[in-house]
Amino acid sequence: MSHSQPRSVVLGTGSELPSKVLTNSALEQLVDTSDEWITVRTGIKVRRILEDGKGSADMAYHASLRAMEDAGVEARDLQAIIVGTVTPDYPFPSSACVLEHMLGARDVFSFDVNAACSGFLNALAVADAFIRTGKIRSALVVGSDALSRLLNWQDRATCILFGDGAGAVVLGASEDDGRGVLSTRLRTDGSYAKTLYVPAGGSLKPASIQSVQRNEHTITMNGKEVFKVAVRSMEEISREALSDAGVSIDQVSLVIPHQANRRIITALADRLGLPLEKVVVNVDKYGNTSAASVPVALDEARRQGRIQPGDIVLLNAFGAGFAWGAAVIRF
Ligand code: COA
Repeated sequence: MSHSQPRSVVLGTGSELPSKVLTNSALEQLVDTSDEWITVRTGIKVRRILEDGKGSADMAYHASLRAMEDAGVEARDLQAIIVGTVTPDYPFPSSACVLEHMLGARDVFSFDVNAACSGFLNALAVADAFIRTGKIRSALVVGSDALSRLLNWQDRATCILFGDGAGAVVLGASEDDGRGVLSTRLRTDGSYAKTLYVPAGGSLKPASIQSVQRNEHTITMNGKEVFKVAVRSMEEISREALSDAGVSIDQVSLVIPHQANRRIITALADRLGLPLEKVVVNVDKYGNTSAASVPVALDEARRQGRIQPGDIVLLNAFGAGFAWGAAVIRF
């Protein structure tokens, strides 16, 4: 039983949502939309917006402090910090390095992963791999994004969908056979790169007066295409992760899907044959918070007592790249 390969167990979770609330009715003042359209098509009612003068590392910091307090872990105990984000404070250095300094962590390695809305799942899979190989025994895994910074507030097809936030998980190594991350699966398909992307601000099209005037630093998306592939891909990868873990769908206590759109979540639950009571939905309150969405929902579910010891939880996400992933965790 003991002395087997270590597994990553969730020692604590935390989240941070900015206090500024943006309602659907406020969006009615900005673009030609309605509370009814947004509610029916997406399930979103309000979202949070990071205040000016702050970057996503600030949200990551507060989420991390809560996760570390929950875990009973100090900054000096952390051996790795991995942040999923596409909205770091700077093009470089990484958000993880900024966060590491804010936390006062030492003797640690830190880096970001860029997998858009799947960023937390990718960060989790990487941290889990380091822990399984015995390289490290603790890691802080964060998803933090401020997509409000990448929105065109004149584009009604995108500006209504997104919000800001951060979620964090402290992982520790454990030789207790039963608990922990049972499986992770990641996938990408770069042929969809331009189905959901930000055209400028990278090395191909650096910032210029023209790029700003053309709004090329904001999210460009074919929503219908994203919707279709998201449902199919999240179902498929969830089934693969469950199969890797040797777990059947009816053994799953709770699913924590990426919170992009209520209709995507219900379509996914339907395809997986799961009742909605077993699926966490908070997209109504926060919109799509990108890499933050899964760890924020996980933290809320834990704090609401929806996850008990022994429960098997399925996480999944899908986003730009396209990049998607799933993980199965026994608590
Ligand atoms: N308010 C009112 N009308 C809107 C609107 C808005 N905010 N946004 C689009 N519309 C209009 C469109 O212009 C279109 O009008 P038309 O029929 O006159 O051309 C109509 O509503 C239908 O648009 P369509 O894009 O077909 O709607 P949809 O049912 O596909 O819903 C999304 C649009 C974006 C909500 C949906 O496609 C979606 O959620 N996709 C996934 C996006 C996503 O999650 N991206 C991030 C993934 S990580």
